[in-house]
Amino acid sequence: PMFLVDGNQIKDEISSLPGNYRWSFDLLCKEIESSLVLGLNKFVLFPAVSDYLKDPMASYSYAEENFYLHAIRGVKERFPEAVLMSDVALDPYSSDGHDGLVSNGEILNDETLPILAKMSIAQAQAGIDIIGPSDMMDGRVGYIRNALDGEGYTDVSIMAYSAKYASAFYGPFRDAVGSATNLGKGSKETYQMDPANSDEALREVALDLAEGADMVMVKPGMPYLDIVRRVKDEFKVPTFAYQVSGEYAMIKGAALNGWIDGEKVMLESLMAFRRAGCDGVLTYFAIEAAKAIGAGKG
Ligand code: PBG
Repeated sequence: PMFLVDGNQIKDEISSLPGNYRWSFDLLCKEIESSLVLGLNKFVLFPAVSDYLKDPMASYSYAEENFYLHAIRGVKERFPEAVLMSDVALDPYSSDGHDGLVSNGEILNDETLPILAKMSIAQAQAGIDIIGPSDMMDGRVGYIRNALDGEGYTDVSIMAYSAKYASAFYGPFRDAVGSATNLGKGSKETYQMDPANSDEALREVALDLAEGADMVMVKPGMPYLDIVRRVKDEFKVPTFAYQVSGEYAMIKGAALNGWIDGEKVMLESLMAFRRAGCDGVLTYFAIEAAKAIGAGKG
């Protein structure tokens, strides 16, 4: 996962995600180039959008001039071997900080779907390989799949954030994209899942697969490895987990304080994802882990 901002020569460290940055396109390209050398060729890109561009309809998400869409195009032109995954949700662009449209304090599920579809098509036009709907609106995978197919983007895949819990572990991410301030005291509990519920994850995964998801994801990761195992055993489809920002921050914070052996804990945590049945892990440790593994430590 990498964060992007508009501008030039920007490498802005995210204070709650030490070692992770908001990159402008030029420096992002350098980072991608060095990652490719390490054997990392899959990148999930998230935009950090200036407040003045946010509105209740998240209209900047598919605007012609959107820097994120330009960056996707630019990276694919320079590095055709890089596999890019997007984020599809309203929150980076929404003045309400929510993943869906809000009216009188309620999320409008069905009214959100056309916006998610427009965003997905704009990303497909820019050259994205994998669409990553992280919004948790009901029916969005099928809606997006139809929209993409209708525009001829049949080869663009979908990795559904299928079992995404309403978690406090997303804190540093919300700092990184600036949605924390917009969201204020608001919560995503009406559309993200109840952390106490395990069976619902299977229902969500089943729905997303029926609607056309190519891959499914469980999120957060480490506290939800029981869900990963259930999903993998039940469906035997490509199953991913997201070791989210708060998980990274906990390990990194303790390591920086000298309280744990950061490298060993990182590698052990990634091994645990594999043991639980993950085919892949989205992690802010990717570069560090690739270096450690390359050096024969993992
Ligand atoms: C929102 C989105 C979130 C993350 C990925 N996409 C946060 C949220 O739901 O508020 C979290 C990732 C992380 O914490 O690393 N569309």
